[in-house]
Amino acid sequence: MSTRLVLTPEKVSAKLEAMKSFRFLCHPEVVAGDGALALLPEKIKALGGLRILLVVDPFLRKTEKVKNLQEKLVASGFHLTVYDGFSGEPTTEQGDDCASWGKKQGCNIVVGLGGGSVLDTAKAAAVLITNGGSVRDYQGLNRVPGPGLPTIMVPTTAGTGSEVTFTAVFVRREERKKAGINSPYLYPQVAILDPELTVTMSPAVTASTGLDALCHALESYTSQQANFVTEAISRQAVSLIWKNLPRAFADGASLEARRAMLYGSFLAGLGLANAGVTAVHAISYPLGGRFGLAHGVANGLLLPYVLEFNLPEVEDKIGLLAVELNPTWTGKSRKEAACDFVQEIKAWLTAFQIPRLKNLGISPEVFPELAKDALLVSVPIQNNPRPITAPDIVSIYQAAW
Ligand SMILES: [Fe+2]
Repeated sequence: MSTRLVLTPEKVSAKLEAMKSFRFLCHPEVVAGDGALALLPEKIKALGGLRILLVVDPFLRKTEKVKNLQEKLVASGFHLTVYDGFSGEPTTEQGDDCASWGKKQGCNIVVGLGGGSVLDTAKAAAVLITNGGSVRDYQGLNRVPGPGLPTIMVPTTAGTGSEVTFTAVFVRREERKKAGINSPYLYPQVAILDPELTVTMSPAVTASTGLDALCHALESYTSQQANFVTEAISRQAVSLIWKNLPRAFADGASLEARRAMLYGSFLAGLGLANAGVTAVHAISYPLGGRFGLAHGVANGLLLPYVLEFNLPEVEDKIGLLAVELNPTWTGKSRKEAACDFVQEIKAWLTAFQIPRLKNLGISPEVFPELAKDALLVSVPIQNNPRPITAPDIVSIYQAAW
């Protein structure tokens, strides 16, 4: 069977029907390019910032580039408060701690410079400083009562897309669960994408964050909430990541691969901000909450098995995309191309040395309990293109074991 798109009258009319109405949110202002970090002082000024809360990765803080940036900001007359209290996935306490530090110093703008944990913490601190309360008060959907301080996000990994999303995820330590603050007040005002900041990532971090971005791209592409705008964005995101993640992993110094990954991750974030994520993220949350697995590793190790589960509903969509990405699959049926695509992701996991659940010492006995928790991550579960039950989720954990 040919993989070429055959537009029957029914398909044309279904497509036109789907395009009749749609919703698409475009936040924030995005400036991108090699060396774009240099634009930070003028962007802070444009937002009326004087007293900056700089939320930064502790490793990055010690680099020459960030030391120079801090000196430049101080020399430009800004008051600088730095928060770098990070280790592992951010907890609700860390979010509160960062906000109270910024509040004490009278900060009026927040800059996040780092990976997803840093950006999420910066976004949350901005709304906590103005609204008061604790991260725990606002976890859920639309629970933040009012706007936060203006924020500028500068990602230094190519993974979370947090620079363009309205979500900030934190671990609730006592319950050993992860939960997101989801609020339109979390959208940053400016995102600065500077590929030069991502070249220092180790191969392991490149792989785990890149797999997270691939999940965002594929999950938003196949989400129940996808529309023709988000699909176009998500497809482009998959394409950039697909062609460049292995290169960025093997040759971290390649600015070309790093640039493509950062822009792919941004597009994937834009896709997820509008179409949401699906079961991969829901099923991975309990692994992060209970066992502290890095977000990208947990998502990556589950991705091919969730795709396999979803294939009966999305094999056309994935198969079509797969052929675009790999012309040698032309001539295969959509189903075959989609299956090959999933097999390729499994090969990536091996090449990237992503562990299996059994290598992480996680016993299958806990899978039913984890599945219960996963089902509570309700929006991604509802977004999944194929209805999914607790036994299905147990089977997915088993497959990833
Ligand atoms: Fe993610």
